[in-house]
Amino acid sequence: MYKVRIPYLDEEEYLLKEYLYEYVVNKREFTIRLPRPPKKEIWKGKEALRSKFKEIAESVFSNPEIQEILSDQIVSPAEFKRFVKIITKELKVRGFENAKNIAIRLAMSLMGYGEIGFLLLDDNIEEVEVNGPKGVFIYHKKKGYVQTDLVFPSAADILEIIDQIAHIHGKTLDEEHPFLDATLPDGSRVNATLPTVTPESPTITVRKFSRHKLSIFDLIRNGTITAEAAAYLWVAIEGLRMYPLNVLVIGGTASGKTTLLNALLAFIPEDQRIITVEDTREVFVPHRNRVHMITYDGVTMNDLLINTLRMRPDRIIVGEVRGPEAVTLFQAMDVGHRGVLGTLHANNAVDAKERLTHEPMNVPESMLPLVNLYVMVKRYPDGSRRVKEIVESVRGENTVAYGNIFETVNGELRMTGSVGQNMDTLAEEANTTRKEIMKEIERRKQYLEALLDKKLDYTSAFRAINKYYALEGNGGG
Ligand SMILES: Nc1ncnc2c1ncn2[C@@H]1O[C@H](COP(=O)(O)OP(=O)(O)OP(=O)(O)O)[C@@H](O)[C@H]1O
Ligand SMILES: [Mg+2]
Repeated sequence: MYKVRIPYLDEEEYLLKEYLYEYVVNKREFTIRLPRPPKKEIWKGKEALRSKFKEIAESVFSNPEIQEILSDQIVSPAEFKRFVKIITKELKVRGFENAKNIAIRLAMSLMGYGEIGFLLLDDNIEEVEVNGPKGVFIYHKKKGYVQTDLVFPSAADILEIIDQIAHIHGKTLDEEHPFLDATLPDGSRVNATLPTVTPESPTITVRKFSRHKLSIFDLIRNGTITAEAAAYLWVAIEGLRMYPLNVLVIGGTASGKTTLLNALLAFIPEDQRIITVEDTREVFVPHRNRVHMITYDGVTMNDLLINTLRMRPDRIIVGEVRGPEAVTLFQAMDVGHRGVLGTLHANNAVDAKERLTHEPMNVPESMLPLVNLYVMVKRYPDGSRRVKEIVESVRGENTVAYGNIFETVNGELRMTGSVGQNMDTLAEEANTTRKEIMKEIERRKQYLEALLDKKLDYTSAFRAINKYYALEGNGGG
């Protein structure tokens, strides 16, 4: 059981919290979207307190960091955590012993997530699931699924939170639109359903975006991928500046496809122009020249992808290929768009072929060899994620043929011996040889290994990888 209970505030503390809320509502510089109007009726006969609080509010909110946070329309849980920290400090020095609880309750009011806002402030929580008034679960990084002691008096209280979320994100929600999908600026995803479709109770599911984005170094360190396989993919994705391969990350639900895709983006040279196409914002591009496109009402993935082709991308990244946009993507590759990256829900390369060539994707089989590599990730029962194999596809007689480049033998990801035919093409295009490519993979492997101990964050990892090209004698230019 995860204990949520945060101590209640006494009357003065509660009024202070409400005053600070009202202050945010009225201050024109703060553009945060707020779920509810301030409660005017609580101030009868409390005028003296109000003027005392006014001074506090003015000095607390003059903190530039707080001003910055509240000048966004939508604030992420990660930022609210910082907010709580600063407000706690500010109130403490003004003599409020219960400062932290006041700050947390204020953050919760501003967030508009009601009681579950508290759960969003805990970095150890990956997911929050409200199944009903008596069923609030979390996925805890260390403990897995745990029920919380949070209980809502009734389904109506959950509905109220959903209403607030819809309001903050400017979404319509009614019997005809019983689903709500929203993304916070930091990538956390919120989904809610109304009793039209979940008759037992309205539900809320929040998948928090991990503030700490996993870099390729994190993935090597935690055993998701070997340095050798990462180096291989580096050469493939960068393509020695001449012939970047088209790569799809495949795997089952929550196997870590998107996480791996994000980590692999660091292998695209930093001067390239990247355009991402997604349903919900999950792909994060560290490059400066980038555009993120998201589907909207009647605008489909396919519409976005077609438009992308007019935006002169060096790279097209498709968050998840799953519908008619697949054909457009393959046509783009057919006319020479290289270095395409994306994810696809499939259990192995043959399964990927099945899915790609049937409804709703309908890619002609003859086009399948345009995707050069499939990187397959798998989630194991202990919760770890590992790349199980890297498979290349090549043009066979009238069809597509697959070859394993990396496979798992006795629990270890190993190169099968051949870098594969696509690497031969890459070598040819880059005017080099298979032998040189092997050497280049080895050099990059050593380069990655040398950086493993540095504990670089996602962005520094990207910078460190790009420094490689500037080193004398290294490929890529
Ligand atoms: N290699 C990894 N090591 C540790 N944690 C990981 C790894 N990959 C993913 N995770 C965690 O697992 C969760 C799901 O990951 P992710 O969204 O990448 O999976 P997915 O396969 O794209 O899921 P979906 O099927 O919903 O698209 C995330 O919370 C993420 O932080
Ligand atoms: Mg995904």
